[in-house]
Amino acid sequence: MQIRIADRADYSGIRAVLDEAFGQTAESAIVERLRSDDADSLELVADHHGDIIGTVMWSPASAQLASGGSLYGLGLGPVAVIPAQQSKGIGAALIEAGLEHFAPYSVAFFCVLGAPDYYARFGFTPAIERGWRWAADDGRIPEMAQAFQIRLPRPLPKGDAIIHYHPAFGL
Ligand SMILES: CC(C)(COP(=O)(O)OP(=O)(O)OC[C@H]1O[C@@H](n2cnc3c(N)ncnc32)[C@H](O)[C@@H]1OP(=O)(O)O)[C@@H](O)C(=O)NCCC(=O)NCCS
Repeated sequence: MQIRIADRADYSGIRAVLDEAFGQTAESAIVERLRSDDADSLELVADHHGDIIGTVMWSPASAQLASGGSLYGLGLGPVAVIPAQQSKGIGAALIEAGLEHFAPYSVAFFCVLGAPDYYARFGFTPAIERGWRWAADDGRIPEMAQAFQIRLPRPLPKGDAIIHYHPAFGL
């Protein structure tokens, strides 16, 4: 199994992985909108002898600081591995390859919406713990505040912020 940057020839395989793993087409539609908006900052695939068995997308995100100004970061997701190949470390390999890819760049933050039990292993913590909130979270679903997580490659000054994903997410 090889983790590599996706190319056009992979797009139908990526769609199949996303649709099977999520059991719906909403995530593959987001990925296709990100590509057509040139907001696919990094798209990786897990390639097993030419079969696409996993995928992850990274796209631009921004944090509006309560103190004024903005920070630019990257949203992680969607990430998916076909059910038959899950729990073999492929999701982790995709996420770690992305974090490694961006390590030389000055990315202020990474964000993800998902299970804290899974993303904590990659250094993500609930954004709410440092007063950062996802713009689409209206507070009506309490679990949402814990599910929206950030990872800061470098320490940042304290202060609240509102985070926006790229509009292709439709949120
Ligand atoms: C999430 C996903 C990408 C992980 O890929 P994977 O290759 O199975 O992940 P890994 O092998 O690196 O890690 C497996 C571990 O993650 C855990 N895990 C997977 N999904 C989880 C979830 N939603 N909540 C908590 N833990 C989860 C598994 O229980 C397993 O735990 P273990 O290592 O203690 O046994 C994959 O399960 C998937 O495609 N799920 C459906 C799509 C999805 O929900 N994507 C994430 C949306 S943000």
